[in-house]
Amino acid sequence: MVTDRQLDVLVICGSLRKGSYNAALARTLPALAPAGMKLRDAPSFASFPLYNFDIQDATGFPHEVDVWADAIRRADGLIIVSPEYNWSIPGGLKNAIDWVSRMKDQPFKDKPVALQSAAGGILGGSRMQYHLRQSLTSIDAHLFGRPEVIVTFAHQKFGDKTLELLDQTAIDMIKLQLAGFERYIRRVSAKE
Ligand SMILES: Cc1cc2nc3c(=O)[nH]c(=O)nc-3n(C[C@H](O)[C@H](O)[C@H](O)COP(=O)(O)O)c2cc1C
Repeated sequence: MVTDRQLDVLVICGSLRKGSYNAALARTLPALAPAGMKLRDAPSFASFPLYNFDIQDATGFPHEVDVWADAIRRADGLIIVSPEYNWSIPGGLKNAIDWVSRMKDQPFKDKPVALQSAAGGILGGSRMQYHLRQSLTSIDAHLFGRPEVIVTFAHQKFGDKTLELLDQTAIDMIKLQLAGFERYIRRVSAKE
């Protein structure tokens, strides 16, 4: 029963960049998660071809898309940690969502999802989060509400060389969100 065992939560990072603040944010999560939640990293979507129905029609879903979808299916919940590109979802992440959204056993269906973002500016990726909410709702995911984790002015909040998250307010908010997300997953999953 999902109500009493440790939860298996998959972390998906929307940035492919080596020095990514969002990847750094994702790396802080295991230490801040409640005991009832175990986090694991999602497989990469970096090698997915651009979605094209002709590929799907001719050869089926690429192996790496199947692997990503299976990892999502197996998880009790997802945390997507992503930057904002041009006020929206980075193309690579959106492309990955588009691929799996065409599957019969669509992996986001009924999946609890929490969002986080880090960005250089004053809005910290919030517009990307709103667009993910919209897009994932269209494929029947359950979006966790509050508290939101939006790390603004990321260059001031992560260590220069270590990329360690140093901002106590952000750390406290992440702890609150993860604790709330654990309760949310248990509540939503118990109803199914
Ligand atoms: C193509 C592109 C578009 C961007 N658009 C935005 C934007 O709309 N809003 C924003 O806050 N930052 C924007 N940025 C800046 C990112 O927030 C910043 O590069 C951030 O560090 C990227 O995340 P990462 O460090 O995890 O790779 C953009 C960056 C790129 C490369």
